[in-house]
Amino acid sequence: MKLPRSGRALAAGAVAVATLISGGSMAGAAPAADTAPAALAAPDIPIANVKAHLTQLQSIATANGGNRAHGRPGYQASLNYVKAKLDAAGFTTTVQRFTASGRTGYNLIADWPGGDANQVVMAGSHLDSVSSGPGINDNASGSAAVLETALAVARSGHQPTKHLRFAWWGAEELGLVGSRYYVNSLGSAGRAKINGYLNFDMIGSPNPGYFVYDDDPTIEQTFQEYFAGLGISTEIETEGDGRSDHAPFKNAGVPVGGLFSGADYRKTSAQAAKWGGTAGQPFDRCYHSSCDTTANINDTALNRNSDAVAYAMWELSR
Ligand code: TRP
Ligand code: ZN
Repeated sequence: MKLPRSGRALAAGAVAVATLISGGSMAGAAPAADTAPAALAAPDIPIANVKAHLTQLQSIATANGGNRAHGRPGYQASLNYVKAKLDAAGFTTTVQRFTASGRTGYNLIADWPGGDANQVVMAGSHLDSVSSGPGINDNASGSAAVLETALAVARSGHQPTKHLRFAWWGAEELGLVGSRYYVNSLGSAGRAKINGYLNFDMIGSPNPGYFVYDDDPTIEQTFQEYFAGLGISTEIETEGDGRSDHAPFKNAGVPVGGLFSGADYRKTSAQAAKWGGTAGQPFDRCYHSSCDTTANINDTALNRNSDAVAYAMWELSR
């Protein structure tokens, strides 16, 4: 039976209720845990998987002159790594090519088949590093969390009402070049279909803060809800508004939001009191440096923020 979208959500709910009543003893039926609850709540994103992506992106940098920068072989290899995972999981992937500073750059877009094409919920991260280092916090962290969230969508067979799209941007470090190219390429009709763009740039800072973008109230509240559930107080992201790939979307009128754990600003004593870590030290002392390696990650921050990516994508796409 082919159900309308609202009917499908109701059917999923009905399966959950039936399972509860029967005490999970539906002989012969597919295990309910693999179906109904997936439609209801976001999964926990396995931190081990996110860290495995960081390890791979570090190896890619090490094998390619120590970076994953625009126009360099380490960027191409990073894109190939992410794309292969998405293709194997059933995403429709598109590589969008552009030129910046005389070199070819690439965005990677991954669409999860299904959902209302006129209501797109999008998550993105820049995949390029600066040329001075491997860029593991900046921004393998966001790239890996978005990748693992996409893979979690595929694993759960999640079919939300809205259409899910994931993106990895090129040439962010040259001035948001890839994301701006993409936003322009959509045209006004394409942009109007995006209900929200969620940006993840630096989400595993070694001396972390928990910053939420305050651009769109619905997206901001969704993240705040998630962190409130963990008992963590967040602050509004103010370390350079417009310094990442949400800016071209926002400038074009698309609702945006995102998370950030801090770059070269220093943690105050009030922030250290509520979040732990070291007051008077930068959130990321290896920002844009050669020491931005897999050692430059706070696992707790990466874990919480990765789960928050999934939470928001699930909640905002119902
Ligand atoms: N994208 C910035 C960079 O790579 C990092 C950054 C600084 C940032 N401030 C920010 C990202 C605020 C998001 C929000 O240089
Ligand atoms: Zn950077």
